[in-house]
Parts: sequence; C-alpha cells; structure tokens
Amino acid sequence: MSQLTRTALAIDRELLEKFDGWMAGRGYTNRSEAVRDLIRSALVEAEWEDPAAEVMATLSIVYDHERHELAQQLTQLQHADHHAILCSQHVHIDDHNCLEAIIMQGTAAQLRRIADAITSTRGVRGGKLTLLSRSI
Ligand code: NI
Repeated sequence: MSQLTRTALAIDRELLEKFDGWMAGRGYTNRSEAVRDLIRSALVEAEWEDPAAEVMATLSIVYDHERHELAQQLTQLQHADHHAILCSQHVHIDDHNCLEAIIMQGTAAQLRRIADAITSTRGVRGGKLTLLSRSI
C-alpha cells in the first residue's frame, strides 16, 4: 500500500449528512475509506473509457438451461474468446435457472463486446458487467 496523504474537503453540511447516511447503510465506519472507494470506482470507470485499456471484469448472467441450445451457444461464445475468459462459475439456481459468473481479462473494447454478445443472446435474462481494474 502506498503512503497515505491527508487532505481536507470543503463540503456543505446537507451533502455530508446524506453521504454519512449512505456510508452507514453500506457498512462503512470510516469516511476516508468510503471516499477512497468512490475515488477508485470513478478511476476504474475512467480507465474503461479507453477502448485499448487492459482491464478486468466479471459478467454475471441468469438463464434457463432448458431453452433450446442456449447453454451450447453460451459455451461457444466463451470458447470463441477463450484468451479473454479466465474462468467461469456455474450455479444451478433451481430446476430451470442457472447463474453464471464469468471472469474476464482483456481490452475494454473486447470485454464489452464479449459481454454484449453473451447478454444479448436470446434466453439470457439480462447480465451485469462489473468493471474492474488490474491496478487501481
Ligand atoms: Ni445449471
């Protein structure tokens, strides 16, 4: 961990009270830690604005495995980009539904393309792409 530097912020009371409420609701007990996490989150989003940036991501999807050829299609999509897909975890939610978490590494453009292709496959009930950084 790099050395900590102290800084001061000027912020209006009402906004700070809202922030403290937000923090408390998420389990933060330390304002500095909450601010650091928000800064990191903003920096990760900024990093992703460069299509060539080397980044990481997790894509979570839910789908019905009984839907015709869907599981096979999803496997094919992942094989087509096997260099970017580090691993995936499959959970059988109930008799019909599956949850899959796919961990990826590559350029921002590549990971968005893969996530879009998987999420837009007919039968996938939405996906959530979590943007991550290798260094922030
Ligand atoms: Ni399953």
